[in-house]
Amino acid sequence: MYVPNRSLDTEAAHDLEDTMSDLSGRTTIVVGASRGLGRGIAAAFADAGAPVIAVARTAGTFDEPANGAGSLRTEVADAADATVAGSLLDRHQPENVVLVAGATPLMRPLQHHTWESFSANWETDVRIAFHWVREVLLKPLRPGSRVIVVSSGAALAGSPLSGGYAGAKATQRFITAYAQEESDRAGLGITFTAVMPRITPLTELGRSAARAYAVRGGQSEEEYLRQLGAPLTPEAAGAALVELVRADAATVAPGYLLTGGGLKKLP
Ligand SMILES: NC(=O)c1ccc[n+]([C@@H]2O[C@H](COP(=O)([O-])OP(=O)(O)OC[C@H]3O[C@@H](n4cnc5c(N)ncnc54)[C@H](OP(=O)(O)O)[C@@H]3O)[C@@H](O)[C@H]2O)c1
Repeated sequence: MYVPNRSLDTEAAHDLEDTMSDLSGRTTIVVGASRGLGRGIAAAFADAGAPVIAVARTAGTFDEPANGAGSLRTEVADAADATVAGSLLDRHQPENVVLVAGATPLMRPLQHHTWESFSANWETDVRIAFHWVREVLLKPLRPGSRVIVVSSGAALAGSPLSGGYAGAKATQRFITAYAQEESDRAGLGITFTAVMPRITPLTELGRSAARAYAVRGGQSEEEYLRQLGAPLTPEAAGAALVELVRADAATVAPGYLLTGGGLKKLP
């Protein structure tokens, strides 16, 4: 069942217990928070009362959290560096980790890629998911912790103009599922969830992809975007992910599609 309006899609949304409605004690690390979806996600967690650590290679600018509830602090770091995940997890002891960071793929047909451009998202997105998820399991984070990995709808449908992007995002989803299995086997009580946003023109990454697919399809950018429906905004992405961590872990699915209409459980 698809529940629009930013609602968490479950067969029985009323079953969701708001056990985590108070995020004030739950430090949340958002990796890839200087712009785009990650910036919206970091702001939403801070507005919901969480102490947020916003990680990126450049410091983003943020408004004061609404209601003065949460807080937002930036950490300038390359999240793909093998030492960064361990040191930031040790320093901040988070209960929520949201991995959003990713490289912007070069948009061109397969034969126009070099190996370096083809593998860009493996060297960033997959590398970040691997290091951070591994460190979460090794540490491990406290029972009840939540880890959300932002993959892509491209992992489901492919993305023929972006080289290795779709495969990299599919691998992020696999890494998330493998981590859940390891957590369950070791009784760690950590919930890992993959979230797959549909292409949105409201970020740099999404805009360049939309432009390339419009040209390829002989459409104007406006025509291409119209057929996608209401775009996912960074604010809506933030609201959806806050809702996801607030939901009872027992009701959370391994993966969700995320569109302008909200989260939809994947089979
Ligand atoms: N936009 C879409 O249409 C769409 C659709 C499906 C999935 N997604 C996925 O959603 C995520 C966010 O996309 P977006 O459109 O918001 O992208 P974006 O606007 O390009 O933002 C990417 C963010 O990741 C950070 N980042 C990149 N490499 C990093 C690194 N090595 N270490 C730390 N931070 C790093 C960037 O900050 P710095 O450059 O300052 O480090 C920036 O804050 C990506 O994983 C993307 O694949 C996006």
